[in-house]
Amino acid sequence: MQDIGYRRPEAGCGMCAIGDAGLLIHDTEYKIQDSKDNVASTVINLHRTSCILHPVSCIPYPFSPGNSAVASASSIFYAARPMHMKVYIDGKFCDQQDAKVSVFDHGLLYGDGIFEGIRAYHGRVFKLKEHIDRLFYSAKAILLDIPMSHAEMMKAVVETCRQNGLRDAYIRLVVTRGVGTLGLNPNRCKNPSVIIIADKIQLYPAEYYEQGMAIVTVPTARNLHNAVNPAIKSLNYLNNILAKLEANIAGVEEAIMLNAEGFVAECTGDNIFIVRNGQMFTPPLSAGTLYGITRGVVLEMAREAGIPASEPNLTRYDLFIADECFLTGTGAELIPVTKIDGRQIGTGKPGPITRTLVQRYRALTEVSGEPI
Ligand SMILES: Cc1ncc(COP(=O)(O)O)c(C=O)c1O
Repeated sequence: MQDIGYRRPEAGCGMCAIGDAGLLIHDTEYKIQDSKDNVASTVINLHRTSCILHPVSCIPYPFSPGNSAVASASSIFYAARPMHMKVYIDGKFCDQQDAKVSVFDHGLLYGDGIFEGIRAYHGRVFKLKEHIDRLFYSAKAILLDIPMSHAEMMKAVVETCRQNGLRDAYIRLVVTRGVGTLGLNPNRCKNPSVIIIADKIQLYPAEYYEQGMAIVTVPTARNLHNAVNPAIKSLNYLNNILAKLEANIAGVEEAIMLNAEGFVAECTGDNIFIVRNGQMFTPPLSAGTLYGITRGVVLEMAREAGIPASEPNLTRYDLFIADECFLTGTGAELIPVTKIDGRQIGTGKPGPITRTLVQRYRALTEVSGEPI
């Protein structure tokens, strides 16, 4: 949260704050323009929809229910983020409200482009080189010439964090094919666009990290290698979005995607691991998994911790009879899974190997990365 004269309530989620002119609710600013009507309940509802961790409002006096201060509902306007957020676009930093791309950009018209999701912890960008390497590999696979070197891209990411005063951040790095015509031929797009947004993200409620979460297998299969190869982190995520929708319909937050042969590939935004009899398994890259950076870190940590790990093809049956299961991703980090397709996994609680790896991952993020 930016320091613009707001103060946080002593109790609460830590992401809401109160000021004379308005509120910050999960980094979204609500201005108070009229002090006549009581809209406490509106404000509280705003908080509830933003705050998955604290379903009860954490904004106290004068915005608590029954208090007569504050403004009319119509006078609270939405400003997506404190206004001094800076977005990097093609070498320049723009204010959030000016951070726009053309409607003729093929990233928008066709999903023609690539991206990375990166995290910074404690003033360091975690595994930055690995993310930039993967970005350049994705670019190579779709014949997209990124108009910057690796080193320039790394500098731009770090600088975007600095410009936004962020030491802990989720960074979205996007390279689009650029502006072209309405036809799909990428040869008409002469200048790819590079966009870097540094913000915060919380993918899943905190209790899932403590207790584990339930996931399901969905009908939408992972892309074929000879279609949009799953190793390309492209802007075309509709395949994964369909799977995510199917998970949502089933009442859970994440989906297991199988490949065309019926082997487990990965989840919509995470790689998947199981543990059985003290050994760790994750699907091979040939099963249609993304070359996950967190997946690589976990395999390395397992080696260091003396946990045997291998990458065989896995079926749903292998998942059902696992002792432990967890997902990995930059956004999700390491999250335990305790139910798959209605089957309890292991004891139904996050297992010891999962917990060990979570601790090791946290420790690593505290000390390693590119300084901001
Ligand atoms: C489809 C998919 N699988 C796996 C992952 C996890 O990869 P990483 O650990 O590099 O974030 C992601 C996230 O980037 C993803 O989008």
